[in-house]
Amino acid sequence: MKFWLFCAAVLAAWSAPPAFGANSAQPMAGKQVFDKWCLPCHGDSDQAPGTLALRVKYKGTLPAVLEQRTDLTAATVKYFVRHGVLVMPFFRKTEISDVQLNALANYLQDPRGRK
Ligand code: HEC
Repeated sequence: MKFWLFCAAVLAAWSAPPAFGANSAQPMAGKQVFDKWCLPCHGDSDQAPGTLALRVKYKGTLPAVLEQRTDLTAATVKYFVRHGVLVMPFFRKTEISDVQLNALANYLQDPRGRK
């Protein structure tokens, strides 16, 4: 994909509507935290820059969609959420609280409740 297209996709996802701004102090289930903050970039879509980047990174050896991965640990998820990577921003505790991050990390570690 052309780089500008990638940038456009990032910008589109970044400015996507309802994700940002609602009261983040509310405790939420991990799936809800994911849908609010991560889905625009990591959804199962050709428009999702995170999914596109991970498709390139893993070349099919791992699913590009985070919710289809079975290898993610809670610690890995927490690291990326607090530090960011490349175009992925890091998230502050005022955006995703530690309680919400715990729920999110536990969810992504085991999205289908198998472990
Ligand atoms: C602005 C888009 C964007 C948002 C929002 C975003 N990410 Fe990402 N994320 C990316 C991109 C792009 C990469 C891939 C970077 C690369 O190529 O290594 C990535 C990588 C990751 C990785 C590393 C996966 C791996 O195997 O390397 C994890 C874990 C991750 N994101 C989790 C999350 C979670 C959880 C959220 C929500 C709190 C989130 N991301 C929100 C764009 C985003």
